[in-house]
Amino acid sequence: MITKPKGCHDIYGIEAKKWKYISNLMDAVCERYNYEFIRTPIFESSELYHRGVGESSDIVTKETYDFVDRGDRKMTLRPEGTAGVVRSYIENKMYGDSKQPIKLYYNGTMYRYERPQSGRDRELTQFGVEVLGSDDPMIDAEVISMAVNIYKLVGLKGIKVNINSLGDKESRNHYRQALVEYFQPHIDEMCDDCKNRLEKNPLRILDCKVDGDSELMKNAPKIIDYLNEESKERFDKVQKYLDLLDIEYVVNPRIVRGLDYYDHTVFEVEAMVEGFGSQNVLGAGGRYNGLVKELDGPEIPGMGFAMGIGRLMLAIEKEEIPLPIDNSIDAFVMYVSDTEKDYATTLVQELRMNGFKVDTEYTGRGLKAQFKQADRLNSKFLIILNDEDLKNNEIKVKNNITKEEQLVELDYLMYYLDEMLSMDDESYDCGCEDHEHKCHCHDEGDDAIKF
Ligand code: HAM
Repeated sequence: MITKPKGCHDIYGIEAKKWKYISNLMDAVCERYNYEFIRTPIFESSELYHRGVGESSDIVTKETYDFVDRGDRKMTLRPEGTAGVVRSYIENKMYGDSKQPIKLYYNGTMYRYERPQSGRDRELTQFGVEVLGSDDPMIDAEVISMAVNIYKLVGLKGIKVNINSLGDKESRNHYRQALVEYFQPHIDEMCDDCKNRLEKNPLRILDCKVDGDSELMKNAPKIIDYLNEESKERFDKVQKYLDLLDIEYVVNPRIVRGLDYYDHTVFEVEAMVEGFGSQNVLGAGGRYNGLVKELDGPEIPGMGFAMGIGRLMLAIEKEEIPLPIDNSIDAFVMYVSDTEKDYATTLVQELRMNGFKVDTEYTGRGLKAQFKQADRLNSKFLIILNDEDLKNNEIKVKNNITKEEQLVELDYLMYYLDEMLSMDDESYDCGCEDHEHKCHCHDEGDDAIKF
């Protein structure tokens, strides 16, 4: 048997419906914030990630899926979305559009050659946003609040937002120097990765998973003490806007992020859910004011975040959040004879073209087994075809919940179903354990979102 590659998942059945629900919710949130969808290639030239994400990030040095195509070009499966979006912004000269900032969002698979474990995959799906063309701290707060509000709308309770500022180039240079001076005398106590980082990007030492909890790390200089006045003021403004937006956060000087393109604001949203495991960063992002220039574009600032949908699904599962998934169909068309089957063939098409969610029998089951199949599909109504009824231009419709049956005139079937289903909507079971009838916990109140 051929099995799926390590660190990849097949998403199907109810799980796929949950993913679709979450994706639709994200689309709806982006509509509200006026972000536009962007789709970029799943592979790009390797150079984009080396220059964009950075030579000192684990993602590029250890985790990319690289290949040489048949034209001898070095290609890489995208490990993240920001570099591709920025490449597209530059290549398509979006900076020339007068409606700056350009606010974009994406939802797609990324590839990282990681050691797989729960919440850490080799094929991962990220939802992300990027705002290009505004350095206003208000955008930083908007992007952070957008991530937080998505988690809130999903119904997640246990989240913690950590923010930090890496400051501008000048601040980071001072800080880098301070870190080198601090860590240099202890180089022998550090892991091999950190020895390398000391040379390439000492900030990344603070992100170390091996030495992370050591005293040496705890007493390391903090970036906040090295921010120049301008960077400090900017960070204060981000916090002011977050306060205005009522977003709770913690300033955590240890947040430095694993990608090289960040400056100023960086943030991570942590899952504070029991039993979640070590891969508890649900989403993360920050400002990257130098990236567009680094990739040969004009000097244009950027800010964004990405969240792993797989990790979000894990959090939903751990917090036992009931998603309002409609796992039912409107009607199941049943038949026995060949003429009834011919009629069923055209009827299901007609119903579907008129907006009903309809299914029928395809495996030769007898009538009794078709009733069971209709139950398996959670069919609200049964349309039971019968040659005699059809001769009289009638059709039997059974409410599969109340079990009431009605002979309906053929010409009247659509209206009848429509009317019955809109009445039935009021008592439809959303699958939420707490609610016998339609659960409104996801669609009422100030946060109500329709999609
Ligand atoms: P990142 O921190 O590398 O940032 O990834 C963002 C999120 O993707 C993580 O918080 C996590 O939820 C998810 N993720 C990352 N790696 C894995 C994995 N191996 N398995 C499962 N989920 C994973 C970025 O990718 C930046 N591009 C974010 C950004 C956008 N910054 C600015 N704009």
